[in-house]
Amino acid sequence: MTRHFLRDDDLTPDEQNAVLELAAEMKADRFAYRPLEGPRSVAVFFDKVSLRTRLSFEAGIAELGGQPMIVDTHATHFGRGESLSDAGRVVSRYVAAMVFRTTGDERLTELASDVNVPVINALTDGFHPCQLLADLLTIRERLGAPQGKKLAYVGDAANNMAHSYLLAGATAGMHVRVAGPSGFDPAATVVSRAAEIAAWTGGSVEVLRDPFEAADGVDVIATDTWTSMGQETDGRDRLTPFWPYQVNGKLLGVAAENAIVLHCLPAHRGEEITDEVMDGPHSAVFDQAENRLHAQKALLAWLLAVNKA
Ligand code: CP
Ligand code: NVA
Repeated sequence: MTRHFLRDDDLTPDEQNAVLELAAEMKADRFAYRPLEGPRSVAVFFDKVSLRTRLSFEAGIAELGGQPMIVDTHATHFGRGESLSDAGRVVSRYVAAMVFRTTGDERLTELASDVNVPVINALTDGFHPCQLLADLLTIRERLGAPQGKKLAYVGDAANNMAHSYLLAGATAGMHVRVAGPSGFDPAATVVSRAAEIAAWTGGSVEVLRDPFEAADGVDVIATDTWTSMGQETDGRDRLTPFWPYQVNGKLLGVAAENAIVLHCLPAHRGEEITDEVMDGPHSAVFDQAENRLHAQKALLAWLLAVNKA
């Protein structure tokens, strides 16, 4: 069975830790690891736009000695009837791995359904697991081992980032609280899966309504846009219910004294996060963005190794 990374819980706690250790090693000696030497190719498909994911994969694959193939799927047959399963079978004959940013998670699982090279989720409507590896690497650097640390994610608790904080945070043994307005709660299946994982790792998960209750005493405050890609025209009011969830000086004031603030970016300054917090001493957002590169390089190297073993 080919090992893929389609959701955060595709890595066990030990495996997640191994990828993060490798990421830290790779960051410390950035050009020393060449598992894609050849070069072997990695295809990176985008159904949605990107800055960080696209460029960090492109640079990372090149740094690993490989050849990145960045594909805007609108220029392919993806949208005009070729099955994603057939496309995956074809492309897997050219490349060492595939990376896919798309809408529904079922598109990702279809691409991965019949291939013998690893497939990586570069963001779906449901999850953003590569981002969480970068976030956990940032937490390790700033605060030490994530296990036992408290994290509050406030804002759109129904989106991909909320789901990934629940799963990846629980896998890391963190105490994860998510808080968003009514109507923007995480999927019950994800919450129950995260609670199951937290029961093995010593972490915990809580879904709250009050952002101040969520942020009280935490080591990490995280947020994300109130309007994810694809939601721009869904007709929902995405400002009024979210204002109480803005990450500003007042909310940060109830967190732990040395708390860090994370945002996967792009940020909508003045909406989900203020300039004061984003540019302030607690912000780790630019290290977090850099860490996409190191975490994804480690993930690729790890997946290539486990699939060869
Ligand atoms: N954080 C993140 O995934 O950014 P991009 O949408 O720019 O890739
Ligand atoms: N929740 C956001 C994350 C962007 C990196 C989105 O899906 O657009």
